[in-house]
Amino acid sequence: MKLGVIGTNWISEQFVAAATASGLYQLTAVYSRRLDTAEKFIAKTAPARAYVDLGAFLAADFDVLYIASPNSLHASQTIAGLNAGKHVICEKPMVADLGELAALEKTRATHPTLLVFEAARHLYDPNFAVIKDYVQKQPISGATLSYVKYSSRYDAYLAGEQPNVFSPAFAGGALMDLGVYLVYAAVAWFGVPNTAQYLPHLLASGVDGDGVARFVYDDFAVTMLCGKTTNSYAPSEIYSGRATLSFDSPGELNSLALIDGARQDLTQPKDDNPMADEVRVFAQAIAAGDQAFAQRQFDLATQVHTLMWQLRQQAGIHFPGDPVN
Ligand SMILES: NC(=O)c1ccc[n+]([C@@H]2O[C@H](COP(=O)([O-])OP(=O)(O)OC[C@H]3O[C@@H](n4cnc5c(N)ncnc54)[C@H](OP(=O)(O)O)[C@@H]3O)[C@@H](O)[C@H]2O)c1
Repeated sequence: MKLGVIGTNWISEQFVAAATASGLYQLTAVYSRRLDTAEKFIAKTAPARAYVDLGAFLAADFDVLYIASPNSLHASQTIAGLNAGKHVICEKPMVADLGELAALEKTRATHPTLLVFEAARHLYDPNFAVIKDYVQKQPISGATLSYVKYSSRYDAYLAGEQPNVFSPAFAGGALMDLGVYLVYAAVAWFGVPNTAQYLPHLLASGVDGDGVARFVYDDFAVTMLCGKTTNSYAPSEIYSGRATLSFDSPGELNSLALIDGARQDLTQPKDDNPMADEVRVFAQAIAAGDQAFAQRQFDLATQVHTLMWQLRQQAGIHFPGDPVN
Protein backbone atom coordinates (compact mmCIF):
# COMPACT_ATOMS: atom_id res chain seq x y z
CA MET A 1 0.00 0.00 0.00
CA LYS A 2 1.15 3.49 -0.76
CA LEU A 3 1.74 5.62 2.34
CA GLY A 4 1.50 9.38 2.89
CA VAL A 5 2.82 10.96 6.10
CA ILE A 6 1.98 14.17 7.98
CA GLY A 7 4.55 15.16 10.64
CA THR A 8 8.30 14.84 10.26
CA ASN A 9 9.52 14.25 13.81
CA TRP A 10 11.27 11.06 15.03
CA ILE A 11 7.98 9.23 15.59
CA SER A 12 7.15 9.45 11.88
CA GLU A 13 10.63 8.13 11.10
CA GLN A 14 9.99 5.20 13.43
CA PHE A 15 6.61 4.55 11.82
CA VAL A 16 8.04 4.64 8.29
CA ALA A 17 10.88 2.32 9.36
CA ALA A 18 8.36 -0.18 10.77
CA ALA A 19 6.05 0.18 7.76
CA THR A 20 8.85 -0.27 5.23
CA ALA A 21 10.37 -3.21 7.13
CA SER A 22 6.98 -4.97 7.13
CA GLY A 23 7.10 -5.05 3.32
CA LEU A 24 3.43 -3.98 3.31
CA TYR A 25 3.81 -0.23 2.70
CA GLN A 26 5.72 2.02 0.35
CA LEU A 27 6.26 5.67 1.32
CA THR A 28 5.18 7.90 -1.57
CA ALA A 29 4.23 11.31 -0.12
CA VAL A 30 5.38 13.49 2.80
CA TYR A 31 3.68 16.68 3.96
CA SER A 32 5.52 19.32 5.98
CA ARG A 33 5.06 23.03 6.57
CA ARG A 34 8.54 23.47 5.02
CA LEU A 35 9.88 21.89 1.87
CA ASP A 36 13.40 21.44 3.26
CA THR A 37 11.98 19.62 6.32
CA ALA A 38 10.04 17.24 4.08
CA GLU A 39 13.10 16.68 1.90
CA LYS A 40 15.32 15.96 4.91
CA PHE A 41 12.73 13.48 6.19
CA ILE A 42 12.65 11.75 2.80
CA ALA A 43 16.46 11.62 2.68
CA LYS A 44 16.47 9.92 6.11
CA THR A 45 13.65 7.44 5.40
CA ALA A 46 12.61 6.40 1.88
CA PRO A 47 12.15 7.97 -1.56
CA ALA A 48 8.89 9.96 -1.82
CA ARG A 49 7.49 13.23 -3.07
CA ALA A 50 7.53 16.27 -0.75
CA TYR A 51 4.50 18.55 -0.32
CA VAL A 52 3.91 21.83 1.52
CA ASP A 53 0.34 22.27 0.31
CA LEU A 54 -2.03 20.06 2.32
CA GLY A 55 -4.66 19.94 -0.44
CA ALA A 56 -2.11 18.86 -3.06
CA PHE A 57 -0.69 16.29 -0.62
CA LEU A 58 -4.12 14.78 0.08
CA ALA A 59 -4.84 14.63 -3.67
CA ALA A 60 -1.58 12.68 -4.24
CA ASP A 61 -1.53 8.99 -5.11
CA PHE A 62 -1.43 7.09 -1.82
CA ASP A 63 -3.80 4.72 0.04
CA VAL A 64 -2.99 5.16 3.71
CA LEU A 65 -2.41 8.42 5.59
CA TYR A 66 -0.32 8.35 8.79
CA ILE A 67 -0.72 11.42 11.01
CA ALA A 68 1.84 12.40 13.67
CA SER A 69 1.16 16.11 14.07
CA PRO A 70 0.38 17.96 17.34
CA ASN A 71 -2.71 16.54 19.11
CA SER A 72 -4.99 19.47 18.32
CA LEU A 73 -4.68 18.78 14.57
CA HIS A 74 -5.40 15.03 14.63
CA ALA A 75 -9.19 15.05 14.20
CA SER A 76 -9.35 17.67 11.44
CA GLN A 77 -6.52 15.97 9.51
CA THR A 78 -8.13 12.54 9.93
CA ILE A 79 -11.40 13.94 8.60
CA ALA A 80 -9.58 15.62 5.69
CA GLY A 81 -7.82 12.33 4.91
CA LEU A 82 -11.11 10.39 4.85
CA ASN A 83 -12.73 13.04 2.64
CA ALA A 84 -9.76 12.66 0.27
CA GLY A 85 -10.42 8.90 0.06
CA LYS A 86 -7.54 7.69 2.27
CA HIS A 87 -7.49 5.10 5.03
CA VAL A 88 -6.12 6.81 8.14
CA ILE A 89 -3.75 5.76 10.92
CA CYS A 90 -3.67 8.63 13.41
CA GLU A 91 -1.35 8.99 16.39
CA LYS A 92 -2.81 8.99 19.89
CA PRO A 93 -4.86 10.82 21.01
CA MET A 94 -6.94 10.66 17.81
CA VAL A 95 -9.30 13.35 19.15
CA ALA A 96 -8.90 16.06 21.79
CA ASP A 97 -12.55 16.36 22.85
CA LEU A 98 -16.04 14.91 22.39
CA GLY A 99 -16.95 17.43 19.66
CA GLU A 100 -14.06 16.14 17.55
CA LEU A 101 -15.07 12.56 18.28
CA ALA A 102 -18.62 13.22 17.04
CA ALA A 103 -17.36 14.98 13.89
CA LEU A 104 -15.01 12.09 13.14
CA GLU A 105 -17.76 9.51 13.70
CA LYS A 106 -19.99 11.40 11.26
CA THR A 107 -17.27 11.49 8.58
CA ARG A 108 -16.51 7.78 9.07
CA ALA A 109 -20.16 6.99 8.47
CA THR A 110 -20.02 8.68 5.06
CA HIS A 111 -16.93 6.63 4.06
CA PRO A 112 -17.72 3.10 5.32
CA THR A 113 -15.06 1.39 3.19
CA LEU A 114 -12.25 3.57 4.55
CA LEU A 115 -10.66 2.29 7.76
CA VAL A 116 -9.55 4.58 10.60
CA PHE A 117 -7.16 3.44 13.32
CA GLU A 118 -5.75 5.25 16.34
CA ALA A 119 -2.09 4.31 16.69
CA ALA A 120 -2.42 3.04 20.26
CA ARG A 121 0.56 0.79 19.57
CA HIS A 122 0.53 -1.04 22.92
CA LEU A 123 -2.80 -2.71 22.03
CA TYR A 124 -0.92 -4.75 19.40
CA ASP A 125 2.08 -5.68 21.58
CA PRO A 126 2.18 -9.46 22.26
CA ASN A 127 2.61 -8.72 26.01
CA PHE A 128 -0.65 -6.73 26.01
CA ALA A 129 -2.50 -9.89 24.89
CA VAL A 130 -0.88 -11.99 27.65
CA ILE A 131 -2.10 -9.48 30.25
CA LYS A 132 -5.58 -9.41 28.73
CA ASP A 133 -5.73 -13.20 28.83
CA TYR A 134 -4.66 -13.21 32.52
CA VAL A 135 -7.27 -10.59 33.43
CA GLN A 136 -10.04 -12.54 31.68
CA LYS A 137 -9.17 -15.77 33.51
CA GLN A 138 -8.40 -14.53 37.04
CA PRO A 139 -10.55 -12.70 39.59
CA ILE A 140 -9.09 -9.17 39.74
CA SER A 141 -8.46 -7.42 43.08
CA GLY A 142 -7.05 -4.13 41.71
CA ALA A 143 -4.27 -2.57 39.65
CA THR A 144 -1.70 0.21 39.65
CA LEU A 145 -0.68 1.38 36.17
CA SER A 146 2.15 3.83 35.71
CA TYR A 147 3.65 5.79 32.80
CA VAL A 148 5.87 8.62 34.03
CA LYS A 149 8.70 9.86 31.81
CA TYR A 150 10.70 13.12 31.90
CA SER A 151 9.82 14.76 28.59
CA SER A 152 12.57 15.66 26.13
CA ARG A 153 10.65 18.98 25.82
CA TYR A 154 10.46 19.76 29.58
CA ASP A 155 13.81 21.55 29.78
CA ALA A 156 12.62 23.91 27.02
CA TYR A 157 9.35 24.45 28.94
CA LEU A 158 11.33 25.26 32.12
CA ALA A 159 13.45 27.69 30.08
CA GLY A 160 10.30 29.65 29.23
CA GLU A 161 9.34 28.15 25.87
CA GLN A 162 5.98 26.51 25.27
CA PRO A 163 6.54 23.23 23.37
CA ASN A 164 3.35 21.82 21.82
CA VAL A 165 3.16 18.95 24.30
CA PHE A 166 3.04 21.41 27.23
CA SER A 167 0.57 23.75 25.55
CA PRO A 168 -3.24 23.80 25.98
CA ALA A 169 -3.50 25.26 22.44
CA PHE A 170 -2.11 21.96 21.08
CA ALA A 171 -4.08 19.73 23.50
CA GLY A 172 -0.94 18.78 25.42
CA GLY A 173 -0.28 17.57 28.97
CA ALA A 174 0.46 14.31 30.75
CA LEU A 175 -3.04 12.84 30.51
CA MET A 176 -3.34 13.50 26.77
CA ASP A 177 0.19 12.28 26.04
CA LEU A 178 1.01 9.32 28.32
CA GLY A 179 -2.23 9.01 30.29
CA VAL A 180 -4.10 7.90 27.17
CA TYR A 181 -1.99 4.70 27.12
CA LEU A 182 -3.15 3.96 30.67
CA VAL A 183 -6.82 4.71 29.98
CA TYR A 184 -6.64 2.47 26.89
CA ALA A 185 -5.10 -0.34 28.94
CA ALA A 186 -7.63 -0.03 31.77
CA VAL A 187 -10.63 -0.02 29.40
CA ALA A 188 -9.26 -2.83 27.20
CA TRP A 189 -8.43 -5.04 30.20
CA PHE A 190 -11.14 -4.18 32.75
CA GLY A 191 -13.89 -2.38 30.79
CA VAL A 192 -15.52 1.01 31.35
CA PRO A 193 -15.38 1.90 35.07
CA ASN A 194 -18.38 2.87 37.21
CA THR A 195 -16.66 6.12 38.21
CA ALA A 196 -13.50 7.89 37.00
CA GLN A 197 -11.54 10.71 38.61
CA TYR A 198 -8.31 12.55 37.78
CA LEU A 199 -6.23 14.58 40.22
CA PRO A 200 -3.70 16.58 38.18
CA HIS A 201 -0.79 18.80 39.07
CA LEU A 202 -1.29 21.74 36.74
CA LEU A 203 1.65 23.62 35.24
CA ALA A 204 1.53 27.39 34.74
CA SER A 205 0.78 26.81 31.03
CA GLY A 206 -2.56 25.22 32.07
CA VAL A 207 -1.77 21.61 31.16
CA ASP A 208 -1.14 18.83 33.67
CA GLY A 209 2.52 17.98 34.31
CA ASP A 210 1.50 14.84 36.14
CA GLY A 211 -1.55 13.33 37.77
CA VAL A 212 -3.28 10.36 39.35
CA ALA A 213 -6.45 8.80 37.95
CA ARG A 214 -8.69 6.37 39.79
CA PHE A 215 -11.18 4.08 38.03
CA VAL A 216 -13.66 2.28 40.30
CA TYR A 217 -15.25 -1.01 39.22
CA ASP A 218 -17.74 -3.25 41.03
CA ASP A 219 -15.16 -5.37 42.86
CA PHE A 220 -11.89 -3.44 42.61
CA ALA A 221 -10.26 -0.14 41.66
CA VAL A 222 -7.44 0.86 39.33
CA THR A 223 -4.97 3.63 40.16
CA MET A 224 -3.09 5.27 37.26
CA LEU A 225 -0.08 7.56 37.43
CA CYS A 226 1.06 9.58 34.45
CA GLY A 227 3.63 12.35 34.26
CA LYS A 228 6.03 14.20 31.99
CA THR A 229 8.12 16.13 34.54
CA THR A 230 9.93 13.24 36.32
CA ASN A 231 11.17 9.72 35.61
CA SER A 232 9.52 6.90 37.55
CA TYR A 233 10.86 3.36 37.58
CA ALA A 234 7.97 2.01 39.67
CA PRO A 235 6.42 -1.07 38.09
CA SER A 236 2.83 -1.42 36.99
CA GLU A 237 0.90 -4.20 38.74
CA ILE A 238 -2.35 -6.12 38.45
CA TYR A 239 -3.47 -7.93 41.61
CA SER A 240 -5.39 -11.18 41.88
CA GLY A 241 -5.61 -12.20 45.53
CA ARG A 242 -2.03 -12.93 46.63
CA ALA A 243 -0.74 -13.07 43.04
CA THR A 244 0.68 -10.02 41.25
CA LEU A 245 1.25 -9.55 37.55
CA SER A 246 4.13 -7.09 37.32
CA PHE A 247 5.29 -5.16 34.24
CA ASP A 248 7.14 -1.96 33.43
CA SER A 249 4.41 0.23 31.94
CA PRO A 250 1.37 -0.43 29.75
CA GLY A 251 2.94 1.96 27.23
CA GLU A 252 6.25 0.06 27.01
CA LEU A 253 5.66 -3.60 27.96
CA ASN A 254 9.29 -4.69 27.83
CA SER A 255 9.07 -6.99 30.87
CA LEU A 256 6.24 -9.02 32.32
CA ALA A 257 6.24 -11.45 35.24
CA LEU A 258 3.77 -13.27 37.46
CA ILE A 259 4.74 -13.20 41.14
CA ASP A 260 2.91 -15.78 43.23
CA GLY A 261 5.46 -16.95 45.76
CA ALA A 262 7.96 -17.58 42.94
CA ARG A 263 8.53 -15.19 40.03
CA GLN A 264 7.64 -16.50 36.56
CA ASP A 265 8.88 -14.50 33.58
CA LEU A 266 6.08 -14.13 31.00
CA THR A 267 7.78 -11.60 28.71
CA GLN A 268 7.01 -12.28 25.05
CA PRO A 269 9.65 -11.73 22.37
CA LYS A 270 8.97 -8.71 20.18
CA ASP A 271 10.38 -6.56 17.43
CA ASP A 272 12.92 -3.85 18.29
CA ASN A 273 10.64 -1.28 16.61
CA PRO A 274 7.66 -0.76 18.98
CA MET A 275 5.42 0.11 15.99
CA ALA A 276 6.10 -3.15 14.09
CA ASP A 277 3.03 -4.97 15.43
CA GLU A 278 0.54 -2.18 14.79
CA VAL A 279 1.72 -1.47 11.23
CA ARG A 280 1.26 -5.14 10.35
CA VAL A 281 -2.19 -5.40 11.96
CA PHE A 282 -3.41 -2.19 10.28
CA ALA A 283 -2.09 -3.20 6.84
CA GLN A 284 -3.71 -6.63 7.06
CA ALA A 285 -7.07 -5.12 8.12
CA ILE A 286 -6.96 -2.51 5.35
CA ALA A 287 -5.97 -5.08 2.68
CA ALA A 288 -8.78 -7.39 3.81
CA GLY A 289 -11.32 -4.54 4.11
CA ASP A 290 -11.94 -5.70 7.69
CA GLN A 291 -14.55 -3.11 8.67
CA ALA A 292 -15.71 -5.19 11.66
CA PHE A 293 -12.23 -5.07 13.23
CA ALA A 294 -11.92 -1.33 12.51
CA GLN A 295 -15.33 -0.78 14.13
CA ARG A 296 -14.31 -2.72 17.27
CA GLN A 297 -11.17 -0.61 17.57
CA PHE A 298 -13.17 2.57 17.00
CA ASP A 299 -15.71 1.52 19.64
CA LEU A 300 -12.83 1.06 22.10
CA ALA A 301 -11.42 4.46 21.10
CA THR A 302 -14.86 5.99 21.70
CA GLN A 303 -14.97 4.55 25.24
CA VAL A 304 -11.42 5.79 25.88
CA HIS A 305 -11.99 9.31 24.60
CA THR A 306 -15.32 9.65 26.38
CA LEU A 307 -13.46 8.88 29.61
CA MET A 308 -10.55 11.17 28.68
CA TRP A 309 -13.05 14.00 28.22
CA GLN A 310 -14.77 13.23 31.54
CA LEU A 311 -11.41 13.18 33.34
CA ARG A 312 -10.40 16.52 31.81
CA GLN A 313 -13.74 18.18 32.56
CA GLN A 314 -13.82 16.97 36.13
CA ALA A 315 -10.16 17.99 36.69
CA GLY A 316 -10.62 21.45 35.18
CA ILE A 317 -8.17 20.98 32.28
CA HIS A 318 -9.49 23.08 29.41
CA PHE A 319 -8.18 23.65 25.89
CA PRO A 320 -9.03 26.63 23.66
CA GLY A 321 -10.47 24.22 21.05
CA ASP A 322 -12.92 22.57 23.49
CA PRO A 323 -16.59 22.73 22.43
CA VAL A 324 -18.56 25.43 24.23
CA ASN A 325 -21.38 24.00 26.35
N1 LIG B 1 3.17 6.24 19.38
C1 LIG B 1 4.22 6.73 19.99
O1 LIG B 1 5.05 6.03 20.52
C2 LIG B 1 4.41 8.21 19.99
C3 LIG B 1 5.62 8.76 20.40
C4 LIG B 1 5.80 10.14 20.31
C5 LIG B 1 4.76 10.93 19.86
N2 LIG B 1 3.58 10.36 19.50
C6 LIG B 1 2.47 11.19 19.02
O2 LIG B 1 2.88 11.74 17.79
C7 LIG B 1 2.37 13.05 17.65
C8 LIG B 1 3.49 13.99 17.33
O3 LIG B 1 4.31 14.12 18.45
P1 LIG B 1 5.63 15.01 18.39
O4 LIG B 1 6.24 15.00 19.71
O5 LIG B 1 6.44 14.59 17.21
O6 LIG B 1 4.94 16.44 18.12
P2 LIG B 1 5.56 17.80 17.56
O7 LIG B 1 7.04 17.68 17.46
O8 LIG B 1 5.00 18.91 18.36
O9 LIG B 1 4.94 17.89 16.11
C9 LIG B 1 5.02 16.83 15.18
C10 LIG B 1 5.12 17.38 13.78
O10 LIG B 1 4.00 18.21 13.50
C11 LIG B 1 4.39 19.37 12.80
N3 LIG B 1 4.08 20.55 13.61
C12 LIG B 1 4.73 20.99 14.71
N4 LIG B 1 4.19 22.13 15.18
C13 LIG B 1 3.17 22.41 14.35
C14 LIG B 1 2.23 23.47 14.29
N5 LIG B 1 2.26 24.47 15.17
N6 LIG B 1 1.31 23.44 13.30
C15 LIG B 1 1.29 22.45 12.38
N7 LIG B 1 2.18 21.42 12.38
C16 LIG B 1 3.09 21.41 13.35
C17 LIG B 1 5.90 19.27 12.56
O11 LIG B 1 6.12 18.79 11.26
P3 LIG B 1 6.58 19.81 10.09
O12 LIG B 1 7.56 20.76 10.71
O13 LIG B 1 7.16 18.91 9.10
O14 LIG B 1 5.33 20.50 9.60
C18 LIG B 1 6.35 18.24 13.57
O15 LIG B 1 7.40 17.44 13.14
C19 LIG B 1 1.65 13.37 18.96
O16 LIG B 1 0.28 13.24 18.77
C20 LIG B 1 2.15 12.35 19.92
O17 LIG B 1 1.16 11.99 20.88
C21 LIG B 1 3.39 9.03 19.55
